Amino acid sequence: MIRLNEITKTYTVGKKAVPALHGISLTVAQGEIFGVIGHSGAGKSTLIRCINLLERPTTGKVHVDGVELSALSDKQLQEERRKIGMIFQHFNLLSSATVAKNVAFPLELAGVPKEAIGQRVKELLELVGLEEHASKYPAQLSGGQKQRVGIARALANNPKVLLCDEATSALDPQTTNSILALLSDINRKLGLTIMLITHEMHVIRTICDKVAVIDGGRIVEEGPVTEVFLKPQHATTREFVEQVSDSQELKEAIRHGKASGQHRIVRITYLGETTYEPVLYEVTRQTGTPFAILQGTISRMKDTPYGQLTVQFGGSEADVARTLDSLKDRGFDVEVL
Ligand SMILES: Nc1ncnc2c1ncn2[C@@H]1O[C@H](COP(=O)(O)OP(=O)(O)OP(=O)(O)O)[C@@H](O)[C@H]1O
Ligand SMILES: [Mg+2]
Repeated sequence: MIRLNEITKTYTVGKKAVPALHGISLTVAQGEIFGVIGHSGAGKSTLIRCINLLERPTTGKVHVDGVELSALSDKQLQEERRKIGMIFQHFNLLSSATVAKNVAFPLELAGVPKEAIGQRVKELLELVGLEEHASKYPAQLSGGQKQRVGIARALANNPKVLLCDEATSALDPQTTNSILALLSDINRKLGLTIMLITHEMHVIRTICDKVAVIDGGRIVEEGPVTEVFLKPQHATTREFVEQVSDSQELKEAIRHGKASGQHRIVRITYLGETTYEPVLYEVTRQTGTPFAILQGTISRMKDTPYGQLTVQFGGSEADVARTLDSLKDRGFDVEVL
């Protein structure tokens, strides 16, 4: 649905060239929720704005729904852009217009007949749960409600793709979750393809199917969320994973273990149904290896349950090795920290 080929973007500030993207290629399938995560300045906003050509890439090709947007004139682009909705961190609503008017605006621009607009606005406000608030002004709404208006407005012309630029970054955790649930709901109900950018791991693991990690204008890791976040390869990905996993005490214990030359702290990751089985007990009983659990989680990446145990093993070198082999044989992911 979205295909980026070797996108580069270099801004010019005065006479200085500011490179922001260095050859980004990625594909987002129809109906997928695809997240891009990265630190501030990594190029996330630049990347997402290159998809609807709010920024023109310096080089490279952008295809959306089979059309090469990067080859179109501004006039042709106007038409194609209706297929792409966008929501923003700070909502970008018209403050002097009511909720209903904000949602009606893109329909008026698209030349939808007046009689049809009222009905469509009503449907959209129902979809986002704001039917009671149609005649309020943005200033009378909470942040979460404002973003719901943003979503209704973005969906007005039945787009095939929704782009979300840090859509929950200005919201508290509970409101964030309600907006993520709404996006997930829309994705399922309408089969809408969603691409979102964020610096929050929580957002990615709650709703995304796939994720790309962007660092310094390059994609450094990409794949299904469960793969990328349970077996992170790149340092930046590890940092994001740690955002939601390791406690300060655990980091201290790992540092201490490394310093003492005893690499006995191991992270065991398991996915799906085995999450609920007493595997560690079974394996260590056979090998006779004592262990202490330093940290344990059972959680969920979108629809997949997973567990992660950080364990310190005692016993001989050989016993530990046998234990790890046995865990690997059973299909667990084992990482010595
Ligand atoms: N309009 C612009 N003109 C010049 N440089 C820009 C412009 N927009 C972004 N940049 C530069 O491009 C790089 C990437 O910026 P971008 O806004 O895409 O990052 P980001 O990942 O969205 O960051 P944040 O999380 O802070 O929003 C930065 O070095 C930034 O300073
Ligand atoms: Mg940004």
